[in-house]
Amino acid sequence: MGGKGFSTVKYLLLVPALFLLTSCSDKALSLFFDIPPPTAEEKAAAAVEAQKVSESPVFPTPTAVAQTQQERPVIDSVTTWEQAQEMLPKDALDEADWMAALHDGTIRPRASIDGDGDPQVAVFRWDFYFPGPDPSLDAYFPHSSHTEWLGCESCHPKVFRYRELEVTMDRIFEGEYCGTCHGVVAFALENCTRCHTAMEE
Ligand code: HEC
Ligand code: HEC
Ligand code: HEC
Repeated sequence: MGGKGFSTVKYLLLVPALFLLTSCSDKALSLFFDIPPPTAEEKAAAAVEAQKVSESPVFPTPTAVAQTQQERPVIDSVTTWEQAQEMLPKDALDEADWMAALHDGTIRPRASIDGDGDPQVAVFRWDFYFPGPDPSLDAYFPHSSHTEWLGCESCHPKVFRYRELEVTMDRIFEGEYCGTCHGVVAFALENCTRCHTAMEE
């Protein structure tokens, strides 16, 4: 009887001891065992790995999300636009902010209506400003945000022929350039500050 009690206590002590050892750094472990500290090459390789992780896209691409997450978002199960609208994040004009909805996972667009096909391949990370007549009128154009929704051929060459642009607000309001989509299928042109990020509200 006494022997059994003793061995229980012994094992109970052994568990935290093992836990401590396994959670120790290599340096601490090498005090107990014969483990050499990491070499310069190993440290460099670890730094390269860490760099790779930090360079990966900030937002998961639809492809990445589709691969890692098979469940459909809750919003897919609502049946009216009113219900859906309540769930969507809003912009300054109190309209649906589709970029925010995409990034916070409220929505997860399918590659096609029947759900088949390749989701978008990648996000093109080239964002820039169109220079305005003065800096407060510069207009922000994020390629990255657009290519989360659209293929290159949505804009090139029909809407934006490379390096042949005379983009003005008048032409945008007439439905050219950005106005091909904004105010039609993307946020309204009245939402000035989403493009003119330096403009006073
Ligand atoms: C979808 C993006 C977008 C929205 C929304 C938008 N603009 Fe623009 N705007 C542009 C681009 C692109 C240009 C051309 C480059 C530049 O001048 O910055 C431009 C140019 C301008 C200019 C420079 C002169 C001119 O006429 O071309 C003014 C002023 C201007 N916008 C005012 C506005 C106001 C006011 C609003 C809101 C009612 C607005 N814009 C909404 C993209 C936008
Ligand atoms: C929503 C519209 C839109 C989409 C989608 C789009 N682009 Fe663009 N792209 C633009 C605009 C606007 C410019 C600026 C054109 C200019 O300044 O003349 C541009 C310019 C470029 C340029 C520079 C051309 C030059 O001569 O300076 C390249 C390269 C480019 N886009 C590649 C791509 C690729 C690759 C894709 C798809 C992954 C893509 N774009 C998707 C709107 C778009
Ligand atoms: C082919 C369609 C199309 C064209 C052309 C287009 N956009 Fe967009 N844009 C979209 C869509 C779709 C979205 C995402 C849905 C939304 O935000 O309403 C978007 C979103 C944006 C955003 C929000 C990005 C974010 O991350 O919040 C900005 C800014 C923007 N567009 C600026 C522009 C400017 C400036 C132009 C013209 C130089 C332009 N867009 C031309 C379709 C287009």
